[in-house]
Amino acid sequence: MNQIKPSGIVTQKEIEELWGITLDSSMDKKMRDYDFSYQSLNEDEKEYWLQFIERELVNPRVVKAGEHRLDEWEGGWGENLKAFISNPTFQSLIPRYYGKRDIVRWNRTFIKPSQRGFEYNMHALIQEYFFRTYLQDIDSIYEFGCGTGHNLLRAGRVNQRALLYGLDWAETSQRIIETLSQSSLVNSEIKGFKFDFFKPDYLIKLNENSGVYTSGALEQVHDQYEAFIEYLIKNKPSLCINMEIMRELMDQDNEMDAIVLRYAEKRNYLKGFLTYLKKLESKNIIKIHLIKRLYVGTLFIESPSCVVWSPL
Ligand SMILES: C[S@@+](CC[C@H](N)C(=O)[O-])C[C@H]1O[C@@H](n2cnc3c(N)ncnc32)[C@H](O)[C@@H]1O
Repeated sequence: MNQIKPSGIVTQKEIEELWGITLDSSMDKKMRDYDFSYQSLNEDEKEYWLQFIERELVNPRVVKAGEHRLDEWEGGWGENLKAFISNPTFQSLIPRYYGKRDIVRWNRTFIKPSQRGFEYNMHALIQEYFFRTYLQDIDSIYEFGCGTGHNLLRAGRVNQRALLYGLDWAETSQRIIETLSQSSLVNSEIKGFKFDFFKPDYLIKLNENSGVYTSGALEQVHDQYEAFIEYLIKNKPSLCINMEIMRELMDQDNEMDAIVLRYAEKRNYLKGFLTYLKKLESKNIIKIHLIKRLYVGTLFIESPSCVVWSPL
């Protein structure tokens, strides 16, 4: 991408300090595989992007998340399905919205990564950490709103004996998972199911000792998550991990966070989720184990933040 010498690099030490975690030795190698070098923006570049953001924030054509977007998801995953059929590699499963712009956010600043893969690799690192920490002793792993299933493959590498299930309202997702299940990329059982957050299907029951996660999927439902959380509480998975935008962790008085809040409002992204989980905890319905802000994201959005909880 850009040939200019990087002015900085996100190091393991910086990640560990910012996230308040320790990456175990198996993750050292991952860190070496990922190129997290970047250039800082000068004042003119920053001003350019702030003006760009400002224009988008008042652009009436920006699409809101919600029920009307099913066809768009079918279309997007259809492109991945076609790519995967002609070239059955992990790369073909990566959603095309990753690395869309050459600017990302890291620790409340904008940076220009040396590699387009920065955003995706940061997500991969976050998932590897959370899957290793929480899903190693789980027997069945479920991703709700799983799209192409690329995250499930990662979960399956961390826990190779777990059964893998990918659920999504888009039927193309199930077609990708069906194709994937017959490929050499998976060693464990993997199955796809149609599932709509707005109308949970209680005929789909979770296995004993299951782990559930979402990654940038509840983002799409605005404040319509109660039916899904009720479904989870009734099905009693051992653990739930939500890697999503969390407006509650943003500070309205911070310039970078204020952009996130305005954009999330404009797009109808996830709202009040953490507050809702805390309310359930205060009623002894669930137990929250961890809430973690990760300070990663794109021009407009800081995501994911992470909450780990269990039904009681
Ligand atoms: C941003 S994508 C994330 C996909 C996947 N989790 C990933 O990380 O690549 C959002 C996903 O949520 C799914 N989705 C949106 N609304 C949904 C709903 N009401 N029920 C189930 N899935 C939904 C979309 O089809 C899409 O697969």
